[in-house]
Amino acid sequence: MKLATKKIAIGVTGGIAAYKSFELIRELKKSGAEVRVAMTDSARKFVTNLTLATLSENPVLDSLFEGNEKLGTVHIDLARWCDVFVICPATANIIAKAAAGLADDVITTSILATQAKVIFCPAMNSVMWEKPIVQQNITRLKELGCDFVDPEWGKLATKAEGEGWGRLASIESIVQKLEFTLLATSELVGKKVLVTAGPTRERIDPVRFITNYSSGKMGFALAEAAKLKGADVVLISGPNNLNKPQGLKYVEVETVEELRKAVEAEYEEADILLMSAAVSDYQTKKASAKKIKKTSAEITLQLKRSPDILALLGKKKADCIHIGFALETENGVENATEKLNTKNLDLIVLNNPLEPGAAFGGDTNIVSIINKDKQVETFTKLPKNRVAEIILNKAVEILQDRNRQVIAV
Ligand code: CTP
Repeated sequence: MKLATKKIAIGVTGGIAAYKSFELIRELKKSGAEVRVAMTDSARKFVTNLTLATLSENPVLDSLFEGNEKLGTVHIDLARWCDVFVICPATANIIAKAAAGLADDVITTSILATQAKVIFCPAMNSVMWEKPIVQQNITRLKELGCDFVDPEWGKLATKAEGEGWGRLASIESIVQKLEFTLLATSELVGKKVLVTAGPTRERIDPVRFITNYSSGKMGFALAEAAKLKGADVVLISGPNNLNKPQGLKYVEVETVEELRKAVEAEYEEADILLMSAAVSDYQTKKASAKKIKKTSAEITLQLKRSPDILALLGKKKADCIHIGFALETENGVENATEKLNTKNLDLIVLNNPLEPGAAFGGDTNIVSIINKDKQVETFTKLPKNRVAEIILNKAVEILQDRNRQVIAV
């Protein structure tokens, strides 16, 4: 429920992508936001007031005057109510009218009347999108403080149009933009946060490998949380099925050795290291160059220890805050505290994958966070993005404490 208590106004204008606003409303409601919709006359040709009202669970503003005779200021109410006003989809027409400062329908009037951030999500035919007048209007609106979620390359509405720029951005990237607009803080501006995520793969032969069940979700959530706090984020991840995150440097790796090299290449400037990758503790002594054929005999796979990346960096650590992760199914606090000490960590995040709600691949986690003073704070089951935020808040506290100490000296 990342967007709980946030008030989002959605302006729907008349393009074929208007139906995609349904999905946007659903996603925002799922995330806890309160949503109200305004629609233009042209939008009513593509989608109905009833659908938008049902999905948003609020009446839809679809006329400046009709039905609003008793309430002459409904557009002002919406403009004042919202924390952000997103126009999705935004036609070339609404962009032109907003750039000219017109106010002749519910959406342009609300745009003029609101003090909230206005975000346009354009969707149109690629020839229209590339027209200089459309681009000039967009530049003008950006200069005036409006934001855009640019359209993507892809199939356009009709076969004749084929593929091109102009397709509405994915709902996921629109939601991300809204989250960023509504939730971003500046605690980590100018700080570099290095996050590792996902599993590693150690090759046995060209078709087989040793790995683990890590999905990468916790690491990706940590990277997002760091980004929301304004950090420059580098996310180094093993193989995963997650959508590639935007607005950060993403490095793909496979083996422990590749992970080690990638981490070392980025470590020097890092202020915070979050080592959530599930690194294989063992690797094959020598991967076979050819596929191993089966025989009737048993085979033995010889494994050697992998380098412990966190322990190695712990030895040369200066100012960087190191946060490690421990998966323990028994004697959790004891084992995790031992790791905190031996790997020279500032914090360790402990979880037990056997607990319901903390399993691999899930969207929730149940963690305890242990600090250098051996204080253990245990949390209930929480969505991974909330857990990520808590961990980042702890890192920010450590940074702030250090700054206070420097000032006191
Ligand atoms: N880690 C690492 N390099 C390794 C192994 C682990 O950097 N070769 C990091 C992990 O990313 C994690 C922490 O160290 O932050 C986990 O420590 P580890 O001792 O590997 O614990 P587990 O693998 O969870 O459990 P155990 O070794 O006790 O089986």
